[in-house]
Amino acid sequence: MTPATLTLPHRLREQFPPLAAGRAYLDNAAGGLLPLRAIEAITAHLMRYGATNAMPGHLPGAEILALKHRARAATALFLNAQPEDVALAQSATALAFRLSAAFARLWGPGDEVIVSGLEHEANASPWRELERVGVTVKVWHARPPEMRLHADDLAELLSDKTRLVSVTAASNALGVTVDIPAVAAQVRAAGGWTMIDAVHAAPHTLPDVQAWGADFVMFSPYKVFGPHLGALWIRPEHRAHLPWPKLSFVPDGDITGIEHGTPQYELLAGWLGTLDYLRELGESEELTRAALVSAYARIAELEKPVAERLISGLAGMENVTLYGPQDMTGRVGTAAFRVDGESADQTAARLTAAGVDVAAGHFYAVQPLKDLGLYPEGVVRVSIAHYTTLEDVERLLAGI
Ligand SMILES: Cc1ncc(COP(=O)(O)O)c(C=O)c1O
Repeated sequence: MTPATLTLPHRLREQFPPLAAGRAYLDNAAGGLLPLRAIEAITAHLMRYGATNAMPGHLPGAEILALKHRARAATALFLNAQPEDVALAQSATALAFRLSAAFARLWGPGDEVIVSGLEHEANASPWRELERVGVTVKVWHARPPEMRLHADDLAELLSDKTRLVSVTAASNALGVTVDIPAVAAQVRAAGGWTMIDAVHAAPHTLPDVQAWGADFVMFSPYKVFGPHLGALWIRPEHRAHLPWPKLSFVPDGDITGIEHGTPQYELLAGWLGTLDYLRELGESEELTRAALVSAYARIAELEKPVAERLISGLAGMENVTLYGPQDMTGRVGTAAFRVDGESADQTAARLTAAGVDVAAGHFYAVQPLKDLGLYPEGVVRVSIAHYTTLEDVERLLAGI
C-alpha cells in the first residue's frame, strides 16, 4: 500500500477488520481496534518464535532481545523521550502501582499528594495507597458543570509539603482535556512532581514529555490501536533514586527493573506493527518523531468533523443530558450522557441491539462521576477514534 492510499478514509477503515462487521464501534475509550499489520505482526511473531525468551546466546533469543530494544526505542519516539526512560508492561495501572511502591519507601507523615478530580482510578488508587504510610492525599476537584480544573484551586492545595500532583491529560469519562504544560509548570514552581495519565489523550493527541515538562507519564498502547500493553516514562533525573521493588541483580535506576517479569514479546511485535501503521498514516518512509506528528495531524483532521457532530448532536437533543463541556472547546471526542427515563445500561442495551456499540458504567472514573452525583450508577459513554465516520455518529443519534 502506498502512503497516498492510506489517507483515504475508506482504505483506512479497511485496515481495521472488525469494522467490516458493519457495526458502529463507539467504545474506543475502553480499547481501540488494531490495524491489520499489528494483528499480522503478532501472528508472525508467534509462528516464528512461539514463547521463546530473550537470550543473547542463541539466534531466536537474540532476535527477541533486539525486538525488545526496538519496541522500547519506538515507544520512546512516541513519547518524545529516550528509550532508557521508558518501561513497557502489561498495563499502565500495574506500572503506576509499582511507582507508588517506590514513593511509599520515600515519603511518609508530613508529605502530601494531590489527585485531580478528573482521574481514572489508575491515576488515583496507587497514590491513595500512600495513605497507609502516613502521606496525606488531597483532591483537586473539577468545577461543575463543565468539569474543568482551575489553576487557582490547585494553588490553594499546593504547599512545600506537596510531593506529587496526579492529573490526566484527558478525562476518560467526560472527554475534557487539561493544559498539561501549565499544570506541570505550576507544580514544579511549588517544588512538586507531576504524574500524567495520557491514556485517554494518546489516541487523539501525540504525547510529548519534553513539551509537557512533567515527571512521570503513562499511556496504554491498547488505546492507541495497539495490543494490551501499558507504558510509563520516568524523568531521567528521578529514575536512579526511585526504590521500586525489583529483582536483586537489576541495577538501581535500570528501567527494566520496574517491568517485572518476562515481557509479552508477541504484543511488543504487534505494537511495532501499529507504529508502522502510524508511520504510513504520517506519509513517511521511516518511523520518526516527525512521521508521528504528521500522523496525528491527519488523525486530528479526520476526527474533527465527527467529534463536532457528536457533541453538537448530543447537546441539541431534548431528551439527553450531556455532561462536561457542551461544545468542542478543550475536549476530545468522548462524551458522557444520559437519556431521560432510562438507566445507562438500558440505553446501551437498546443501542447495541441496533448495531451501535457504546459503553455504560463509571469506567473507573470514580471522582468525576461522584462530583457529578452520577456514581455508582454511571453514564452512557460514546468515544470516537480516527476511523469513526459521520455515519456512525448519525446511527447513534438516530438510535437515541
Ligand atoms: C484514562 C485512563 N487511565 C488509565 C487507564 C488504565 O490503563 P491500563 O488498562 O493500561 O491499566 C485507563 C483504562 O481504561 C484509562 O482510560
